[in-house]
Amino acid sequence: MDFLHLFGIYVAVVLTCIFLVCKYSGQQHNPFNTLLSYVSKVVAPFTPQWLQRSSHWIFHRLFHQRSNIFIYLHIFLEGSVYAEFTYEVFGFCREMDTSLTSLSVPYVLLAIKSCFFYLCIKTDPGTVTKKKVSSLIHVYPYDRRLFHPGVSCETCQLVKPARSKHCRVCNRCVQRFDHHCVWVNNCVGAGNTRYFLLYLLSVCAMALDIALLTGDMLLHAVLRSGLLRASYIDEYGQQQPAGPLFVVQHLFLTFPRIVFMLGFVIFVFFLLAGYTLFHSFLALVNQTSNEWYKSRGFVCRHCHPMPAADNLCSPVLDHSKRYYYSRGLLRNLGEIFFPPQATQKKGN
Ligand SMILES: *[C@@H]1O[C@H](CO)[C@@H](O)[C@H](O)[C@H]1NC(C)=O
Ligand SMILES: [Zn+2]
Ligand SMILES: [Zn+2]
Repeated sequence: MDFLHLFGIYVAVVLTCIFLVCKYSGQQHNPFNTLLSYVSKVVAPFTPQWLQRSSHWIFHRLFHQRSNIFIYLHIFLEGSVYAEFTYEVFGFCREMDTSLTSLSVPYVLLAIKSCFFYLCIKTDPGTVTKKKVSSLIHVYPYDRRLFHPGVSCETCQLVKPARSKHCRVCNRCVQRFDHHCVWVNNCVGAGNTRYFLLYLLSVCAMALDIALLTGDMLLHAVLRSGLLRASYIDEYGQQQPAGPLFVVQHLFLTFPRIVFMLGFVIFVFFLLAGYTLFHSFLALVNQTSNEWYKSRGFVCRHCHPMPAADNLCSPVLDHSKRYYYSRGLLRNLGEIFFPPQATQKKGN
């Protein structure tokens, strides 16, 4: 196989990954899970017991229990990108007369992002405790549609406030539960949704800025090499101009690490940009992703027990009233940044 086929396969695989992840992220019945369970069923008879048990243990440890593994992975990936940027791209850009100010933007963004990342990890998302539950119940009214009064969490043995959910990973109920994020090893809830949003935005900005600077550097490298004006002699002895594919091949061979890093950063950017748009949209319409999935019938089948009287939780919900929580974009955003306090409404 020659270089161009390999490159084509590389691009196709990356694009397919982006497409699949965007399409199916967050859904419980996605092709990844189906494929995974199918593969594990097929290989089960051929794998020894200890291997099955340990892989099951690893999976459980990674996704069903709190662990810092993804935080370390996050830091490692980020460190690799920044090391590559600092050691190869930075020097090249300095030679090209890129100003120090624009070259320091990625580092400023890194500092900002790290703050939000830290706050996301360390802030209490809004754990429902025995002491706080009586006041948390008054923060949001029960809509009798997705959240019904008088329902208790079987594990915590506490009444569930409206908009809260039990997190199985952290084993606690969380006020205004959004989802459990393995990358920050914490739930996203009333207390830290704002940091989570800012974190996502700053990661996107970081990836975009690094991609732009690196792309600019590669462009200059191509212009400087004079490859665009170059030509080669083909197998019939004719002179041919070097086309764009020639340039791509040249870049791949001259700066393999930089091109790989650029591909990774672009991948991360598109992935996170979609995710960030989704979460910003939810913030603007005063919904949590938990409610979003629930109101579309993704989670509803499981939200037992429910009082028989108001059995409104059928999968076929009134989709015209999807955003009936919303009281205007600005107020919705305000609530994310200044979440209503439990004590404020006490005694209502
Ligand atoms: C957001 O939705 C909840 C519904 O439970 C509502 O109580 C709250 O007032 C809404 N906030 C805004 C700012 O619309
Ligand atoms: Zn609970
Ligand atoms: Zn959690």
